[in-house]
Amino acid sequence: MMPTFVIAIDGPAASGKSSVSKLLARRLHCAHVNSGALYRAAAWGILESGADPTDPAAVTAAAHTLQLDWAPDRQDFTLLVNGQDPGPHLRDAAVAASVSPVASVPAVRDIITAFLRHMAEGRSLIMEGRDIGSVVFPETPYKFYIDASEEIRLSRRLAQGETDSPLSRDRQDSTRKTAPLKIAEDALVIDSTHLSLDAVVQQALDGLTARGLAIPAE
Ligand code: CDP
Repeated sequence: MMPTFVIAIDGPAASGKSSVSKLLARRLHCAHVNSGALYRAAAWGILESGADPTDPAAVTAAAHTLQLDWAPDRQDFTLLVNGQDPGPHLRDAAVAASVSPVASVPAVRDIITAFLRHMAEGRSLIMEGRDIGSVVFPETPYKFYIDASEEIRLSRRLAQGETDSPLSRDRQDSTRKTAPLKIAEDALVIDSTHLSLDAVVQQALDGLTARGLAIPAE
C-alpha cells in the first residue's frame, strides 16, 4: 500500500482554513474533511432529537443515540445523520448557535474524534478544524494553524453572507476544557491577515516540503 499522510489545518472561524484546505487537497490529489461540518451535523441531530443543546447530560445521552455514517465521494465525503443528509441544515442559525456548546461536551468529542480517525484509515487527507493537530492526529508532522485578525475574519464572514457570530464561537471554543482551540506546539503558524489565498497556499506547500512531504508536479 502507498504510504498515506494527514495534513491538519486548525484555526479560528473564518481564518481561511476551508479555502486553503480545498486548494491544497486539489493540489495534492487527496481527500478533504471539514471536521466542523461533523460537529455541525451532530448539533443538528441533537437539536432534531429535542435535547437541550446547553444541557451537557442531555447532549451526552442524545449523542449516544446518533447514527453517523459516511461514504467517500471522490475528494469529499457524504455524511448521514440517522439516515438523513444534514447538508442543507449545517448553516442554520439554530445549528450555528448550538454547535459550540455541543462541541464542548466530552462525549461528543470522543464520538467525533473516533469518527475522524476512522475516515483517515487507508487514505491521505487534509482535515481542518480546531483540534486536529493537537488532539485528533497529534502524530502527524504536517500541522498548520491559520490565523487572521478579528477584523478581517469578521469581514470575510459577512462577505460570505453569514450572520452568526464567529467571534463568540471562538471564545467558547478557546475556553472550553476539552480540546480547546490552541496552537499545537509543532504547528506552522500562517497569519493570513495580509496574504492572498494563493500566498497562504504557497506558504503551506513550502512548509510541507520542508517537513519532507513530496509535492506532485502541477
Ligand atoms: O466555519 P467555521 O470556521 O465558522 O466553523 P466550523 O469549522 O464549521 O466549526 C463549527 C464549530 O464546530 C466550531 O465553532 C467548534 O465549536 C466546533 N469544532 C470543534 O470543536 N472542533 C473541530 N475540530 C471542528 C469544529
